[in-house]
Amino acid sequence: MCSETVAIANDHAGVELKALLVKDLEALGLRVLDLGANTAESVDYPDFAVRVVEAIVNGAADRGVLICGTGIGMGMAANRTRGIRAAVCHDAVSARLAREHNDANVLALGARTLGPEVARDCLKVFLSTAFDGGPRHVRRLQKLQ
Ligand code: RB5
Repeated sequence: MCSETVAIANDHAGVELKALLVKDLEALGLRVLDLGANTAESVDYPDFAVRVVEAIVNGAADRGVLICGTGIGMGMAANRTRGIRAAVCHDAVSARLAREHNDANVLALGARTLGPEVARDCLKVFLSTAFDGGPRHVRRLQKLQ
């Protein structure tokens, strides 16, 4: 498992799942930057996605986790910034391939579309899988830039 800082944020839909995932991150010995939201009050997901994006861009975090109802809004918001590669993952396979092929640095999860154990599995695989590298994947990522 990697030794690094993980920034995590969510909207109102993701409060409970975030609490679960923060425990998993801490149990893995990772430093966690919990950037909200921590109440059920309705909030706007872009306001929280940008916190994680800025933490990564500023070097305060190595990777990020974003949670909303579906993961989709968070993924869209995060991917507006150069250098952020957010992947909405639905299972261990998508989490693994997001790392191996896409070198994803943000995991976006849907609290309303995933069971908690599936989400935990996505996180574990996301953190423990390396980028495959190699000319074809690197070339494609360069085109994203
Ligand atoms: C909030 O109701 C919901 O729209 C949000 O959590 C997310 O699913 C958006 O993509």
